[in-house]
Amino acid sequence: MNKQNFFDKPVIICHGGAGHGAKDQPGVDFATEVGRKILIEGGTSVEAVSKAVEIMENDPNLNAGTGGCIREDGSVQLDAIIATSGKNIGAVIALEGCKNPINVAVRLLNTPINILAGRGASEFAIKEGFPHENVIGRKRKNGNDTVGALAIDKNGLIAAASSTGGCSGRPAGRVGDTPLWGPGIWCDEEVAVIATGIGESITLEMICFRVAQQIKVYGKTLLQALEWGLEQFDKEIEVGFLAIKNNGDALGLSNTKMPWKMMIVS
Ligand code: GLY
Repeated sequence: MNKQNFFDKPVIICHGGAGHGAKDQPGVDFATEVGRKILIEGGTSVEAVSKAVEIMENDPNLNAGTGGCIREDGSVQLDAIIATSGKNIGAVIALEGCKNPINVAVRLLNTPINILAGRGASEFAIKEGFPHENVIGRKRKNGNDTVGALAIDKNGLIAAASSTGGCSGRPAGRVGDTPLWGPGIWCDEEVAVIATGIGESITLEMICFRVAQQIKVYGKTLLQALEWGLEQFDKEIEVGFLAIKNNGDALGLSNTKMPWKMMIVS
């Protein structure tokens, strides 16, 4: 869909991570509602998903931002990514000293750089005016993962965003699927897909790109494509997805608990 076209069914859909249960649903609902309001007021899908993810990063129950998983060495290293159907991408990897990495990723969207990691990401955040602050993080059991949001706005622009502290029990410097274009996120003019779950397995399957192909190339519905995506993993590997199409259809599906919420703007 052309960015200039008027689209009459803006939608936002958010998740609070594979492995999270019903107690974390209210935080996801709140983030979705705030994103929906932004769309109602004529805001862009980039503004809606980045605000929704920022809210979930500020929720200590969720594994992102302030509640990001503490690494084996005691550090909190955060990954975040945002992408649009307008062929823009911004991502930070292993960012330290910043509670809202999604907002740093947003600042990369309209620069020639796609992804910054480690020291480069920190220096960019400081240059952009983000305060260097202590991120408390949280010790987590396995199976508590990542937050994310997808939206389409009144101009038909799709945006996809994810943020994570990474899986538990991982060393400093380890990179999962979340900030990786292809495995953890895909967003083009027809469809966007984001993943949550065990990053090593998700990365090996290049799963978001392949789920998107199921829709675009093989004509599967969202449900069929997400079911196909889950089938690529052994049952004990926790995985979940959100997907959205340029006609406003959106869906979440997981092989484990995963709080998610969709709100149509009408
Ligand atoms: N899915 C998030 C991670 O593995 O880091």
